Amino acid sequence: MSLTTWAATAADPSITAIRAARLIDGLAAAPIRDAVVLIDGERIIAAGSKLAIPAGATVIDLGDATLLPGFIDCHTHITGEPGDYYKSFVRDSYIDDAVRAHVYAGRTLQAGFTTIRNLGASEFVDIALRRAIDDGVVLGPRIVAAGHGIGATGGHADDTVGASPYVTRRGYDGVADGVEAVRLKVREQVKHGADVIKMVATAGVLSEEDSVGAPQYTQAEMDALVDEAHRWDRKVAAHAHGTEGIKMAVRAGVDSIEHGSFIDDEGIAMMKARGTYLVADIYNDDYILAEFGKLNYPEKIIEKERLVGRVQRENFRKAVRAGVKIAYGTDAGVYPHGGNGKQFAKHVEWGQTPMQAIVAATSSAATLLGRTKDIGAVSPGRYADLVAVAGDPLTDITLLEHPRFVMKGGVAVRRDGAPVLQP
Ligand code: ARG
Repeated sequence: MSLTTWAATAADPSITAIRAARLIDGLAAAPIRDAVVLIDGERIIAAGSKLAIPAGATVIDLGDATLLPGFIDCHTHITGEPGDYYKSFVRDSYIDDAVRAHVYAGRTLQAGFTTIRNLGASEFVDIALRRAIDDGVVLGPRIVAAGHGIGATGGHADDTVGASPYVTRRGYDGVADGVEAVRLKVREQVKHGADVIKMVATAGVLSEEDSVGAPQYTQAEMDALVDEAHRWDRKVAAHAHGTEGIKMAVRAGVDSIEHGSFIDDEGIAMMKARGTYLVADIYNDDYILAEFGKLNYPEKIIEKERLVGRVQRENFRKAVRAGVKIAYGTDAGVYPHGGNGKQFAKHVEWGQTPMQAIVAATSSAATLLGRTKDIGAVSPGRYADLVAVAGDPLTDITLLEHPRFVMKGGVAVRRDGAPVLQP
Protein backbone atom coordinates (compact mmCIF):
# COMPACT_ATOMS: atom_id res chain seq x y z
CA MET A 1 0.00 0.00 0.00
CA SER A 2 1.62 3.18 -1.13
CA LEU A 3 -0.73 5.69 0.43
CA THR A 4 0.72 7.69 3.26
CA THR A 5 -0.63 10.26 5.63
CA TRP A 6 0.75 13.71 5.33
CA ALA A 7 1.44 15.73 8.41
CA ALA A 8 -0.06 19.19 8.02
CA THR A 9 2.40 21.81 9.17
CA ALA A 10 2.60 25.51 8.36
CA ALA A 11 0.41 27.23 5.77
CA ASP A 12 1.61 26.31 2.31
CA PRO A 13 0.02 28.05 -0.68
CA SER A 14 1.97 25.96 -3.18
CA ILE A 15 -0.15 22.93 -2.31
CA THR A 16 -3.27 21.82 -4.10
CA ALA A 17 -5.70 19.48 -2.35
CA ILE A 18 -8.22 17.46 -4.33
CA ARG A 19 -11.18 15.96 -2.58
CA ALA A 20 -13.41 13.23 -4.02
CA ALA A 21 -15.92 10.72 -2.64
CA ARG A 22 -13.80 7.78 -3.82
CA LEU A 23 -10.22 7.10 -4.93
CA ILE A 24 -8.98 4.14 -6.95
CA ASP A 25 -5.19 4.17 -6.75
CA GLY A 26 -4.40 2.13 -9.89
CA LEU A 27 -2.49 -0.46 -7.88
CA ALA A 28 -5.57 -2.66 -7.33
CA ALA A 29 -6.11 -1.62 -3.70
CA ALA A 30 -9.73 -1.39 -2.51
CA PRO A 31 -11.21 2.05 -3.23
CA ILE A 32 -10.73 4.69 -0.54
CA ARG A 33 -13.68 6.79 0.65
CA ASP A 34 -13.52 10.51 1.37
CA ALA A 35 -10.28 10.76 -0.52
CA VAL A 36 -7.84 13.62 -0.38
CA VAL A 37 -4.86 13.94 -2.71
CA LEU A 38 -2.24 16.56 -1.93
CA ILE A 39 -0.11 17.92 -4.75
CA ASP A 40 2.99 20.07 -4.67
CA GLY A 41 3.98 21.37 -8.09
CA GLU A 42 3.74 18.58 -10.62
CA ARG A 43 3.84 15.65 -8.18
CA ILE A 44 1.63 13.96 -5.61
CA ILE A 45 2.90 14.27 -2.03
CA ALA A 46 0.18 12.36 -0.20
CA ALA A 47 -3.07 10.51 -0.79
CA GLY A 48 -5.49 8.89 1.60
CA SER A 49 -8.82 9.09 3.39
CA LYS A 50 -9.74 12.35 5.16
CA LEU A 51 -6.20 13.74 5.14
CA ALA A 52 -5.81 17.11 6.84
CA ILE A 53 -5.66 19.89 4.27
CA PRO A 54 -2.89 22.39 4.97
CA ALA A 55 -3.89 26.00 5.52
CA GLY A 56 -3.53 28.08 2.38
CA ALA A 57 -3.83 25.14 0.03
CA THR A 58 -5.96 25.48 -3.09
CA VAL A 59 -8.85 23.06 -2.68
CA ILE A 60 -10.58 21.36 -5.59
CA ASP A 61 -13.67 19.57 -4.35
CA LEU A 62 -14.92 17.07 -6.90
CA GLY A 63 -17.89 15.87 -4.81
CA ASP A 64 -19.45 12.50 -5.64
CA ALA A 65 -16.70 11.52 -8.01
CA THR A 66 -14.10 8.78 -8.29
CA LEU A 67 -10.53 9.90 -8.66
CA LEU A 68 -8.13 7.67 -10.60
CA PRO A 69 -4.63 7.86 -12.03
CA GLY A 70 -4.42 9.38 -15.49
CA PHE A 71 -4.97 6.62 -18.03
CA ILE A 72 -2.24 5.18 -20.25
CA ASP A 73 -2.90 3.96 -23.78
CA CYS A 74 -0.01 1.66 -24.76
CA HIS A 75 -0.85 1.56 -28.46
CA THR A 76 -1.75 4.65 -30.42
CA HIS A 77 -1.05 6.25 -33.78
CA ILE A 78 -1.39 9.87 -32.74
CA THR A 79 -0.47 11.30 -36.15
CA GLY A 80 -3.42 9.89 -38.08
CA GLU A 81 -7.15 9.27 -38.11
CA PRO A 82 -9.43 7.21 -40.33
CA GLY A 83 -10.28 8.87 -43.62
CA ASP A 84 -10.93 7.99 -47.24
CA TYR A 85 -8.45 5.22 -48.15
CA TYR A 86 -7.39 6.55 -51.54
CA LYS A 87 -7.41 10.19 -50.59
CA SER A 88 -5.02 9.61 -47.73
CA PHE A 89 -2.90 7.33 -49.91
CA VAL A 90 -2.59 9.72 -52.85
CA ARG A 91 -3.08 13.24 -51.54
CA ASP A 92 -1.86 13.24 -47.96
CA SER A 93 1.73 13.41 -46.79
CA TYR A 94 3.48 13.30 -43.44
CA ILE A 95 3.18 17.07 -43.40
CA ASP A 96 -0.58 16.68 -43.15
CA ASP A 97 0.06 14.31 -40.27
CA ALA A 98 2.27 16.84 -38.55
CA VAL A 99 -0.23 19.66 -38.98
CA ARG A 100 -3.09 17.67 -37.49
CA ALA A 101 -1.42 15.65 -34.74
CA HIS A 102 -1.72 18.30 -32.01
CA VAL A 103 -5.50 18.23 -32.34
CA TYR A 104 -5.52 14.47 -31.78
CA ALA A 105 -3.16 14.90 -28.83
CA GLY A 106 -5.50 17.44 -27.25
CA ARG A 107 -8.50 15.15 -27.63
CA THR A 108 -6.57 12.23 -26.16
CA LEU A 109 -5.62 14.23 -23.09
CA GLN A 110 -9.17 15.52 -22.63
CA ALA A 111 -10.32 11.89 -22.63
CA GLY A 112 -8.21 11.30 -19.52
CA PHE A 113 -5.25 9.66 -21.24
CA THR A 114 -2.30 11.50 -19.75
CA THR A 115 0.28 9.13 -21.32
CA ILE A 116 0.34 7.32 -24.62
CA ARG A 117 2.82 4.96 -26.21
CA ASN A 118 2.83 5.79 -29.90
CA LEU A 119 3.67 2.72 -31.94
CA GLY A 120 4.59 4.03 -35.34
CA ALA A 121 4.50 7.37 -37.13
CA SER A 122 6.00 8.74 -40.32
CA GLU A 123 9.05 10.96 -40.38
CA PHE A 124 9.46 11.20 -36.59
CA VAL A 125 6.33 13.34 -36.28
CA ASP A 126 5.52 11.58 -32.99
CA ILE A 127 8.90 12.60 -31.60
CA ALA A 128 8.45 16.22 -32.70
CA LEU A 129 5.02 16.20 -31.09
CA ARG A 130 6.45 14.76 -27.87
CA ARG A 131 8.98 17.59 -27.77
CA ALA A 132 6.36 20.27 -28.39
CA ILE A 133 4.23 18.84 -25.56
CA ASP A 134 7.18 18.55 -23.18
CA ASP A 135 8.15 22.14 -23.99
CA GLY A 136 4.63 23.31 -23.13
CA VAL A 137 3.91 24.55 -26.64
CA VAL A 138 1.18 22.00 -27.36
CA LEU A 139 -1.31 20.54 -24.90
CA GLY A 140 -1.24 16.75 -24.98
CA PRO A 141 -0.35 13.57 -23.16
CA ARG A 142 3.12 12.40 -22.24
CA ILE A 143 4.35 10.43 -25.26
CA VAL A 144 6.50 7.32 -25.31
CA ALA A 145 7.34 7.35 -29.00
CA ALA A 146 8.55 4.66 -31.39
CA GLY A 147 9.37 6.68 -34.48
CA HIS A 148 8.84 4.33 -37.43
CA GLY A 149 7.41 0.88 -37.02
CA ILE A 150 10.10 -1.49 -38.37
CA GLY A 151 8.99 -4.17 -40.82
CA ALA A 152 9.78 -6.10 -43.98
CA THR A 153 9.44 -5.05 -47.61
CA GLY A 154 5.90 -5.76 -48.77
CA GLY A 155 4.66 -6.13 -45.22
CA HIS A 156 2.38 -4.29 -42.83
CA ALA A 157 4.87 -1.45 -42.24
CA ASP A 158 5.48 -0.91 -45.94
CA ASP A 159 3.26 2.00 -47.00
CA THR A 160 3.09 1.21 -50.71
CA VAL A 161 1.90 -2.39 -50.71
CA GLY A 162 -0.90 -2.61 -53.26
CA ALA A 163 0.24 0.41 -55.21
CA SER A 164 1.75 0.51 -58.68
CA PRO A 165 5.49 -0.26 -58.61
CA TYR A 166 6.00 3.31 -59.80
CA VAL A 167 4.41 4.76 -56.68
CA THR A 168 7.48 5.30 -54.58
CA ARG A 169 7.81 5.79 -50.87
CA ARG A 170 7.15 9.24 -49.54
CA GLY A 171 10.31 9.61 -47.57
CA TYR A 172 12.11 7.96 -44.70
CA ASP A 173 10.32 4.84 -43.51
CA GLY A 174 10.54 1.75 -41.35
CA VAL A 175 11.22 -0.87 -44.02
CA ALA A 176 14.27 -3.02 -43.33
CA ASP A 177 15.22 -6.53 -44.49
CA GLY A 178 17.94 -8.76 -43.09
CA VAL A 179 19.67 -8.76 -39.73
CA GLU A 180 22.12 -5.96 -40.49
CA ALA A 181 19.41 -3.72 -41.90
CA VAL A 182 17.06 -4.23 -38.96
CA ARG A 183 19.87 -3.43 -36.54
CA LEU A 184 20.60 -0.24 -38.47
CA LYS A 185 16.91 0.68 -38.50
CA VAL A 186 16.72 0.27 -34.72
CA ARG A 187 19.80 2.46 -34.30
CA GLU A 188 18.29 5.15 -36.51
CA GLN A 189 15.09 5.25 -34.46
CA VAL A 190 17.12 5.56 -31.27
CA LYS A 191 19.35 8.20 -32.84
CA HIS A 192 16.34 10.33 -33.71
CA GLY A 193 14.71 10.03 -30.31
CA ALA A 194 12.67 6.82 -30.09
CA ASP A 195 11.80 5.72 -26.55
CA VAL A 196 10.56 2.29 -27.63
CA ILE A 197 10.93 0.13 -30.73
CA LYS A 198 7.99 -1.20 -32.70
CA MET A 199 8.55 -4.40 -34.65
CA VAL A 200 6.07 -5.61 -37.23
CA ALA A 201 6.39 -9.36 -36.69
CA THR A 202 3.45 -10.50 -38.79
CA ALA A 203 1.06 -9.39 -41.46
CA GLY A 204 -1.81 -7.11 -40.52
CA VAL A 205 -5.35 -6.12 -41.26
CA LEU A 206 -5.18 -2.54 -42.54
CA SER A 207 -2.58 -3.13 -45.23
CA GLU A 208 -2.89 -4.87 -48.56
CA GLU A 209 -0.68 -7.93 -48.19
CA ASP A 210 -2.70 -11.13 -48.62
CA SER A 211 -2.20 -12.64 -45.21
CA VAL A 212 -3.52 -11.28 -41.96
CA GLY A 213 -1.11 -13.07 -39.67
CA ALA A 214 1.84 -14.71 -41.48
CA PRO A 215 5.29 -13.99 -40.01
CA GLN A 216 6.99 -11.18 -41.95
CA TYR A 217 10.40 -11.51 -40.37
CA THR A 218 12.59 -14.58 -39.93
CA GLN A 219 13.51 -15.69 -36.44
CA ALA A 220 17.01 -14.36 -37.06
CA GLU A 221 15.68 -10.91 -38.00
CA MET A 222 13.42 -10.76 -34.95
CA ASP A 223 16.23 -11.92 -32.66
CA ALA A 224 18.58 -9.28 -34.07
CA LEU A 225 16.01 -6.50 -33.79
CA VAL A 226 15.19 -7.26 -30.16
CA ASP A 227 18.85 -7.75 -29.24
CA GLU A 228 19.74 -4.40 -30.77
CA ALA A 229 16.84 -2.54 -29.14
CA HIS A 230 17.60 -3.99 -25.72
CA ARG A 231 21.28 -3.14 -26.14
CA TRP A 232 20.15 0.49 -26.42
CA ASP A 233 17.86 0.04 -23.45
CA ARG A 234 14.69 0.29 -25.52
CA LYS A 235 11.77 -2.07 -25.05
CA VAL A 236 10.19 -3.74 -28.05
CA ALA A 237 6.50 -3.86 -28.89
CA ALA A 238 5.68 -6.47 -31.53
CA HIS A 239 2.71 -6.17 -33.85
CA ALA A 240 1.69 -9.83 -34.14
CA HIS A 241 -1.65 -11.35 -35.15
CA GLY A 242 -0.65 -14.87 -36.29
CA THR A 243 -0.13 -17.92 -34.06
CA GLU A 244 3.41 -18.66 -35.23
CA GLY A 245 4.57 -15.05 -35.51
CA ILE A 246 3.45 -14.37 -31.94
CA LYS A 247 5.62 -17.26 -30.69
CA MET A 248 8.59 -16.17 -32.78
CA ALA A 249 8.35 -12.66 -31.33
CA VAL A 250 8.01 -13.96 -27.77
CA ARG A 251 11.01 -16.23 -28.34
CA ALA A 252 12.99 -13.25 -29.62
CA GLY A 253 12.28 -11.60 -26.27
CA VAL A 254 9.86 -8.78 -27.09
CA ASP A 255 8.31 -6.93 -24.16
CA SER A 256 4.76 -6.88 -25.49
CA ILE A 257 2.66 -8.57 -28.11
CA GLU A 258 0.31 -6.13 -29.80
CA HIS A 259 -3.04 -7.49 -31.08
CA GLY A 260 -2.28 -11.18 -30.32
CA SER A 261 -5.33 -12.21 -32.33
CA PHE A 262 -4.63 -15.86 -33.17
CA ILE A 263 -2.64 -16.77 -30.09
CA ASP A 264 -2.99 -20.43 -29.03
CA ASP A 265 -2.53 -22.18 -25.68
CA GLU A 266 1.19 -22.67 -26.25
CA GLY A 267 1.65 -18.97 -27.07
CA ILE A 268 -0.31 -18.03 -23.96
CA ALA A 269 1.88 -20.33 -21.85
CA MET A 270 5.04 -18.84 -23.38
CA MET A 271 3.91 -15.29 -22.64
CA LYS A 272 3.00 -16.24 -19.10
CA ALA A 273 6.34 -17.94 -18.50
CA ARG A 274 8.32 -14.95 -19.80
CA GLY A 275 6.11 -12.19 -18.44
CA THR A 276 5.42 -10.82 -21.92
CA TYR A 277 2.55 -8.32 -21.91
CA LEU A 278 -0.49 -8.61 -24.14
CA VAL A 279 -1.80 -5.32 -25.53
CA ALA A 280 -4.96 -6.16 -27.44
CA ASP A 281 -6.98 -3.54 -29.33
CA ILE A 282 -10.32 -5.22 -28.72
CA TYR A 283 -12.58 -2.22 -29.39
CA ASN A 284 -11.34 -1.62 -32.97
CA ASP A 285 -13.40 -4.32 -34.67
CA ASP A 286 -16.71 -2.54 -33.92
CA TYR A 287 -15.50 0.69 -35.48
CA ILE A 288 -13.79 -0.86 -38.52
CA LEU A 289 -16.74 -3.03 -39.50
CA ALA A 290 -19.20 -0.13 -39.05
CA GLU A 291 -17.20 2.60 -40.78
CA PHE A 292 -14.42 1.39 -43.07
CA GLY A 293 -16.81 0.27 -45.83
CA LYS A 294 -17.85 3.93 -46.13
CA LEU A 295 -14.21 5.03 -46.34
CA ASN A 296 -13.49 3.11 -49.55
CA TYR A 297 -11.25 0.53 -47.92
CA PRO A 298 -10.57 -2.39 -50.28
CA GLU A 299 -12.89 -5.34 -49.63
CA LYS A 300 -9.79 -7.44 -49.01
CA ILE A 301 -9.03 -5.43 -45.89
CA ILE A 302 -12.59 -5.56 -44.53
CA GLU A 303 -12.50 -9.32 -45.17
CA LYS A 304 -9.29 -9.58 -43.12
CA GLU A 305 -10.96 -7.70 -40.27
CA ARG A 306 -13.81 -10.24 -40.29
CA LEU A 307 -11.23 -13.00 -39.80
CA VAL A 308 -9.64 -11.28 -36.82
CA GLY A 309 -12.22 -9.37 -34.80
CA ARG A 310 -14.15 -11.99 -32.84
CA VAL A 311 -11.29 -14.50 -32.50
CA GLN A 312 -9.06 -11.77 -31.07
CA ARG A 313 -11.61 -11.04 -28.36
CA GLU A 314 -12.11 -14.72 -27.52
CA ASN A 315 -8.36 -15.21 -27.28
CA PHE A 316 -8.02 -12.11 -25.13
CA ARG A 317 -10.43 -13.74 -22.68
CA LYS A 318 -8.35 -16.95 -22.71
CA ALA A 319 -5.18 -15.00 -22.03
CA VAL A 320 -6.85 -13.10 -19.17
CA ARG A 321 -8.04 -16.37 -17.62
CA ALA A 322 -4.56 -17.85 -17.95
CA GLY A 323 -3.08 -14.90 -16.10
CA VAL A 324 -1.10 -13.28 -18.93
CA LYS A 325 -0.11 -9.70 -18.04
CA ILE A 326 -2.46 -7.27 -19.73
CA ALA A 327 -1.80 -3.63 -20.59
CA TYR A 328 -4.39 -1.34 -22.16
CA GLY A 329 -3.83 -0.32 -25.77
CA THR A 330 -6.43 0.73 -28.30
CA ASP A 331 -4.69 1.41 -31.62
CA ALA A 332 -6.41 4.82 -31.55
CA GLY A 333 -5.85 6.41 -34.91
CA VAL A 334 -7.55 3.42 -36.46
CA TYR A 335 -10.60 4.96 -34.78
CA PRO A 336 -10.89 8.61 -33.75
CA HIS A 337 -8.60 9.94 -31.01
CA GLY A 338 -10.42 10.85 -27.83
CA GLY A 339 -12.42 7.62 -27.92
CA ASN A 340 -9.56 5.81 -26.16
CA GLY A 341 -11.77 5.04 -23.15
CA LYS A 342 -14.28 3.02 -25.15
CA GLN A 343 -12.16 -0.09 -24.82
CA PHE A 344 -12.61 -0.31 -21.02
CA ALA A 345 -16.05 -1.82 -21.49
CA LYS A 346 -14.61 -4.42 -23.87
CA HIS A 347 -12.03 -5.48 -21.29
CA VAL A 348 -14.88 -6.13 -18.88
CA GLU A 349 -17.09 -7.80 -21.49
CA TRP A 350 -14.22 -10.13 -22.41
CA GLY A 351 -13.04 -11.35 -19.06
CA GLN A 352 -11.51 -8.69 -16.84
CA THR A 353 -13.09 -7.25 -13.71
CA PRO A 354 -13.56 -3.48 -13.76
CA MET A 355 -10.64 -3.18 -11.32
CA GLN A 356 -8.42 -5.29 -13.61
CA ALA A 357 -9.37 -3.13 -16.58
CA ILE A 358 -8.42 0.01 -14.64
CA VAL A 359 -5.11 -1.55 -13.57
CA ALA A 360 -4.43 -2.49 -17.22
CA ALA A 361 -4.62 1.20 -18.13
CA THR A 362 -2.69 2.46 -15.10
CA SER A 363 -0.05 0.58 -13.06
CA SER A 364 0.20 -2.37 -15.41
CA ALA A 365 0.72 -0.06 -18.39
CA ALA A 366 3.26 1.98 -16.43
CA THR A 367 5.22 -1.19 -15.68
CA LEU A 368 5.23 -2.17 -19.35
CA LEU A 369 6.49 1.31 -20.21
CA GLY A 370 9.17 1.17 -17.48
CA ARG A 371 7.78 4.39 -15.95
CA THR A 372 6.50 3.34 -12.53
CA LYS A 373 8.43 6.10 -10.79
CA ASP A 374 6.37 8.70 -12.60
CA ILE A 375 2.99 7.44 -13.73
CA GLY A 376 0.34 4.76 -13.31
CA ALA A 377 -0.78 5.26 -9.71
CA VAL A 378 -2.09 7.85 -7.30
CA SER A 379 0.92 7.53 -5.11
CA PRO A 380 3.35 9.97 -3.45
CA GLY A 381 6.24 10.89 -5.71
CA ARG A 382 4.44 10.22 -8.99
CA TYR A 383 3.18 12.94 -11.29
CA ALA A 384 -0.19 14.41 -10.40
CA ASP A 385 -1.76 12.88 -13.50
CA LEU A 386 -5.35 12.37 -12.41
CA VAL A 387 -8.79 11.69 -13.83
CA ALA A 388 -12.14 11.94 -12.09
CA VAL A 389 -15.41 10.49 -13.26
CA ALA A 390 -18.90 11.01 -11.87
CA GLY A 391 -20.12 8.08 -9.76
CA ASP A 392 -18.44 4.69 -9.37
CA PRO A 393 -16.72 3.08 -12.37
CA LEU A 394 -16.60 -0.28 -10.58
CA THR A 395 -20.38 -0.47 -11.02
CA ASP A 396 -20.47 1.22 -14.46
CA ILE A 397 -17.21 0.94 -16.39
CA THR A 398 -18.49 3.19 -19.20
CA LEU A 399 -18.19 6.17 -16.83
CA LEU A 400 -14.49 6.11 -17.72
CA GLU A 401 -15.41 7.25 -21.23
CA HIS A 402 -16.53 10.63 -19.91
CA PRO A 403 -14.09 12.17 -17.46
CA ARG A 404 -15.35 15.23 -15.59
CA PHE A 405 -11.87 16.26 -14.50
CA VAL A 406 -8.40 15.71 -15.94
CA MET A 407 -5.09 16.90 -14.51
CA LYS A 408 -1.63 16.40 -15.99
CA GLY A 409 1.44 17.14 -13.91
CA GLY A 410 -0.56 19.18 -11.40
CA VAL A 411 -2.29 21.32 -14.03
CA ALA A 412 -6.04 20.85 -14.51
CA VAL A 413 -6.85 20.65 -18.22
CA ARG A 414 -10.50 19.67 -17.80
CA ARG A 415 -13.00 20.83 -15.17
CA ASP A 416 -16.73 20.09 -14.87
CA GLY A 417 -16.59 17.96 -17.99
CA ALA A 418 -15.21 20.74 -20.21
CA PRO A 419 -11.71 21.60 -21.42
CA VAL A 420 -9.81 24.30 -19.55
CA LEU A 421 -7.50 26.43 -21.66
CA GLN A 422 -3.81 25.79 -21.51
CA PRO A 423 -2.23 27.66 -18.55
N1 ARG B 1 -3.28 -1.98 -36.91
C1 ARG B 1 -3.94 -3.25 -36.87
C2 ARG B 1 -3.75 -3.96 -38.17
O1 ARG B 1 -3.92 -3.35 -39.19
C3 ARG B 1 -5.39 -3.05 -36.58
C4 ARG B 1 -6.17 -4.29 -36.36
C5 ARG B 1 -7.56 -3.91 -36.08
N2 ARG B 1 -8.46 -5.01 -35.92
C6 ARG B 1 -8.59 -5.68 -34.82
N3 ARG B 1 -9.51 -6.60 -34.77
N4 ARG B 1 -7.89 -5.46 -33.77
O2 ARG B 1 -3.44 -5.10 -38.20
